[in-house]
This record gives sequence, C-alpha cells and structure tokens, in this order.
Amino acid sequence: MANVAVDQLISRSNRLGADPKNTNYAGGNTSAKGTETDPVTGEPVELVWVKGSGGDLGTLTPAGLAALRLDRMRSLVNVYPGIDREDEMVAAFDYCLHGKGGAAPSIDTAMHGLVDAPHVDHLHPDSGIAIATASDGEELTPTIFGDKVVWVPWRRPGFQLGLDIAAIKTANPQAIGCILGGHGITAWGDTTDECEANSLWIIDTAAAYIAEHGKAEPFGAVRPGFEALSSGERLAKAAALAPTLRSIASHDRAMVGHFTDAEVVLDFLASANAPALAELGTSCPDHFLRTKVKPMLLDLPADASVEDSIARLGELHQEYRADYAGYYERNATPDSPAIRGADPLIILIPGVGMFSYGANKQTARVAGEFYVNAINVMRGAEALSTYAPIDESEKFRIEYWALEEAKLQRMPKPKPLATRIALVTGAASGIGKAIAERLAAEGACVVVGDLDLAKAQAAAEGIGNADVAIGLVCDVTKPDQVQAAVDAAVLAFGGLDIVVNNAGLSLSKPLLETTEADWDLQHNVMAKGSFLVSKAAAKVLIEQKLGGDIIYISSKNSIFAGPNNIAYSATKADQAHQVRLLAAELGGHGIKVNGINPDGVVRGSGIFAGGWGASRAAVYGVAEGDLGKYYAQRTLLKREVLPENIANAAFVLCTSDLSHTTGLHIPVDAGVAAAFLR
Ligand SMILES: NC(=O)c1ccc[n+]([C@@H]2O[C@H](COP(=O)([O-])OP(=O)(O)OC[C@H]3O[C@@H](n4cnc5c(N)ncnc54)[C@H](O)[C@@H]3O)[C@@H](O)[C@H]2O)c1
Ligand SMILES: [Zn+2]
Repeated sequence: MANVAVDQLISRSNRLGADPKNTNYAGGNTSAKGTETDPVTGEPVELVWVKGSGGDLGTLTPAGLAALRLDRMRSLVNVYPGIDREDEMVAAFDYCLHGKGGAAPSIDTAMHGLVDAPHVDHLHPDSGIAIATASDGEELTPTIFGDKVVWVPWRRPGFQLGLDIAAIKTANPQAIGCILGGHGITAWGDTTDECEANSLWIIDTAAAYIAEHGKAEPFGAVRPGFEALSSGERLAKAAALAPTLRSIASHDRAMVGHFTDAEVVLDFLASANAPALAELGTSCPDHFLRTKVKPMLLDLPADASVEDSIARLGELHQEYRADYAGYYERNATPDSPAIRGADPLIILIPGVGMFSYGANKQTARVAGEFYVNAINVMRGAEALSTYAPIDESEKFRIEYWALEEAKLQRMPKPKPLATRIALVTGAASGIGKAIAERLAAEGACVVVGDLDLAKAQAAAEGIGNADVAIGLVCDVTKPDQVQAAVDAAVLAFGGLDIVVNNAGLSLSKPLLETTEADWDLQHNVMAKGSFLVSKAAAKVLIEQKLGGDIIYISSKNSIFAGPNNIAYSATKADQAHQVRLLAAELGGHGIKVNGINPDGVVRGSGIFAGGWGASRAAVYGVAEGDLGKYYAQRTLLKREVLPENIANAAFVLCTSDLSHTTGLHIPVDAGVAAAFLR
C-alpha cells in the first residue's frame, strides 16, 4: 500500500503541474517526507520522496519518484567537500536510496532533502521568474512579499543551493518560501495543503503585483511595420520560409520543427524592445537548455518578401553561428564537452511567428513553449524594472555541465528515421496505411493524406498523437490540395524528407470497354497525381538542402503486360518512368527517387475490397476470401504478399543502408518471373 505522503505528493504535483502558470512543462520538482517500516529491521525509517530526473509534474506517478533515506541523505553534509566538488554529491545520492530507490534522483534532490520542512515545492512560474530576473529582484522581494519570502542569490542548482535554501529557512522561521535569483521559486509547508497554498500564494502574489504596479507597455511601443500579418498571410509566409529555416536549424544536426503564431509571440515581435530583449536570451536553466542561450531574430519588417527574408536569414545564420562559437570559446575550459552545434533552436520572424526546433516534434514544441515562458518572464521583469538574466558564463556552466552531458549520453539511441518527416498519399487504407505506420514506428513524423478527412485522421490517430502523425485531405489530382498538404506538413513538423506516392485505384477493363473517363481517372490519380506531389514536395526538399526520399508505389503491372489492364498498367508504367526521370534530375540535390513494385496484396487493400478482388476471384474461379492464397501459389516463393511487406521495402529505401541507391524499383511480389527487372 502506498504511503499517504506519496499519495498526497502525487496529487499535489498533478494539480500544480496541470496549470501552466505554475511551472513550465517538465519543470520544477516536489517532495514529501514521511515514515515507513524498514523491511530489514522492522523499525520505522524516515524517507524523502522527490520527483526524479525528467518527467512532468502534471503527469507524475509514484514510479517517477526517487525514494531516499533522510538520515543518510542529510549525513552527506558531513562529507560535502565544498562547492568546487559539489557535483560528486549526485553520485553519492545513490548510496542514500531506499530499496531500489525508484526514479533517478535529480540535481535538485539536495534542496528537497536538506530543507527542514515535510513538504517542498520547487517551481518555475513565469511570474516568479519575472521577479527572479528583475535587476532589482532582491529589493523587490520584500516589497512584494514582506518577510514571508526570502531572496536567494543566483546559484547553479546543486548541493550548495540546497544548503543555502536550508540555511535561509532556518534563519527566517516566518518564511514560507524563497525567490531563487535568475531561476524560479521554492516553497515549503508543514502539510501538503500548506505547501501547495504557499506555492500558489507566491505565484499569484507576484502576478498580481506585476499586474498592479507594472508599466503599461513593458516591451515598448509597437514598431511600425513589424505588426502581425493577417492570419492567411502569416501561414503562407511561414510555409514559404519553413524549408529554409529548417535548413538553418539543421546545419549541424537534423531537426524537427514546430511553428506557432500565438498572439503573445506576435505582440513581442511587434514591439520596439524585442531585438534587445531577444539578444539577452533566456534565464531559467530549464528554459535555455531547450531554447539555446538566445534565439535568432529576423531583423526585417513583416512585409519583407520571402526572397529578401531568405537572403537575410542566411546572413543572420552565419552571424548566429559565429556568435555561438564565440560564446563557447570564451567560456569553455579544457574539460568542457565539445561544442554541441551552433544553430539556433528558436527562430523569430516578425509579423509571422516563431519556429522552434528539437530532435523530435515533442522536443521542438516544448522548446517553443519555453520561449513563450521566457517572453512572459521578460514582460513581467520589464514591467517592474529591467530584465537581467544570469550571465553567459553561468549559462555556459549549465549548458556544458558534466552532469548535463552525462544525461545526454544516457539518452537512448535515436530510431533509424528519427527527425525525418514523411508525407504518404492514399495512406488511410491498405499499403499506404501500412507504410505510414512503419515509418512512424521507425521514428518518423508522418502526414497521412487521403481523399476523406475523417479516414485520414482516423489512420493518423491510430499511429499516435499529433507529435507523431496528422491526417489531412489531399486529393492528389488537385494541385491546390497537393500544395496545401505540403504546406500543412511543413507547418506541422517544420519540413519534409520522405514522400510516398501511394494513392491509387484500379479499374480492370479490356481495351474496348475502357472509357475515356476510366483512362483519365487512373492517369489523373496515379501519373498526374504523383507528378503534382513530387513537384510540390521537391521544392521543399531542394530548399531544405537535407536530401530526401521520393518513393513511388508503382506495380508489377508497370512492366508486366497482362490482359484487361490498359489504363491501370499504362499509368503504372508512367509512374515507373517518373522514378527514373526524377532520380536523374534530383540526384544533384541528394534526393533519392525509388519505386516499389507490389503484386497481389489482397489483405487490407481497398482496391481488392471494392470489386476488383471479386472480379479477379471470378476470373480465377476461386472464392474471394481465398484470393490471397491463390496469388501466393502463383509466386516463386509461394508466399502471400501483405501490406507490411511493402512497408518494409519503403522503410529500407529511406534508411542509410540504401544511401547510395536511386532510380531503383524493388519488386515485392513473392517472386513473379514475368515481372523480373532487367
Ligand atoms: N494491392 C495491390 O495488390 C497492389 C499491387 C500493386 C500496386 N498497388 C498500388 O498500391 C497503392 C495502394 O493500393 P492499395 O492496395 O493499398 O489500395 P487502397 O484502396 O487500400 O488504398 C488506396 C488509397 O488511395 C486513396 N486514393 C484514391 N484516390 C486518391 C486521390 N485522388 N487522392 C488521394 N488519395 C486517393 C484511397 O482513398 C485509398 O485510401 C496503389 O497505388 C496501388 O495501385 C497495389
Ligand atoms: Zn529549477
């Protein structure tokens, strides 16, 4: 049975974490102290449960808690070798664990264990960090909170900060918490309710004080020409710039992107003080670890053309990289980890919005959320005084901290298609659906396009949440829908790397019965549709300068000449030659173009279910349900071909294992000699 202290801690954490005003995503940590029976001695033992490294308060469960013995944890004070070697104390926490100890103890464990209170919250509320980053935060603290909240000067999180806070609590018995300079807040209480109330009182009192005493335009007047464009213009410009921006963010390492045109961002970008404030960068360690020390801001007005913006962004990128390298060189010591890439993670475009980047969509989205937190912090700090984040040497000490580096080294190896963004046409059913599922399972972000929105969305939801897959309408015969789908993909995930031309349909008729409409329909969907998709997508791939893969699901029938198939097979042959033509044309951009020739995929296929299967079964004199088995018997390997087999081939084509292969068709037909390629 869980300890009541644990139950209380989880529910308090979940409540605090559910409201973004209280802390940023995955930011902050909470703890409770309580007694359990030591299974070894049968004696009572005092424990501290504290949110472990990583994880979010809003969704914290008991599995996310570290459990330490309080007596042993506090004994560390006797062996603490001093601030220069405080990092060693993190390894020492392992010797304080109770049982297996639960989640890995975080760097903030010291603060929770050493503060003499049964319940402790450490949070990163925008309102609290605004006070923490105000240049006169130390003077503001008593003005705002009286003697209930004490100022703790900036110190990197660690054992010494825990000792500092513990000492301040002892010296100020009336205090309910403190403002941690440059960083956040910590509050405590004798009961869980008291602790929660104290946290909320600090957060709300800070916010109310800023609202009442802050100046009206903390970011200065609106800069003429930098106001938000209309919604339609914003999205169009964002989509047009996105491939270039992704290429900038991915110069050192491929990134996935997130775009927001939230009002808070647009207002900031329209303000006179935005350039100077953006240059100061973020302050809370949680913020700049995800946003990099500072963003890159386009210094052109909202109505600057896409061409002019791209040209200027190129210059700014070079400046940003030089600036970041300078920051590294100024601050690195001989034992610092190597520079981790000098590209911006946050790119701000006045009038349009913010692009944020990360190794996956969730990380990219959270980086953007953190910059919104930083904007709120800057607004609050500037409203009362002057925003003064911690200085760059301290930022560097955190960014290139050995403990932070160790965390990065512990991260699981990325999946083979991590950071890659795929658009699969006709992916609500059959082969396309199997491909979308496989690419996502291998780490790609996937856009499911199909004729029917509800079906496309259902297929996407079956794959995962909107950080993994989205569904949208894309009739590949309509150029405007194709362009809209490519734009939507680019806005959802920052770019595009893999395009699968899969949409198709099959009408099997002899020549004399094939109508002009039959011919046009099949050619429009398959030959013309894949031409339109390849064209719109290739523009993005070329601008991104990250190479990419275009895959055509053509067919055995692109080379095999059977009866009753003039329109279908002719358009499949057209698709197959597009593969070769585009492989030749796009190779110079590092874009590979390959095809897959499936045959006899009955299971899951809408083509077969929609009448084609019945007519084929009738032709062969077998029951429709046995068609798969019938086809299998015709193959050299005597195996039924499943949608997953086609998906396997699509996956392999996108991996680095086939990095030197373009213009190829892979037969996935269990062996049909008449369709051998030569
Ligand atoms: N099933 C097979 O044996 C087989 C063999 C060789 C090639 N293929 C090819 O594989 C592809 C997928 O076939 P499947 O068997 O999975 O069929 P399916 O019917 O299950 O899936 C095709 C999907 O394409 C969509 N689609 C049709 N017209 C569209 C348009 N204009 N725009 C966007 N989407 C459209 C459909 O709505 C459907 O969801 C097709 O190109 C097909 O020719 C299939
Ligand atoms: Zn913190």
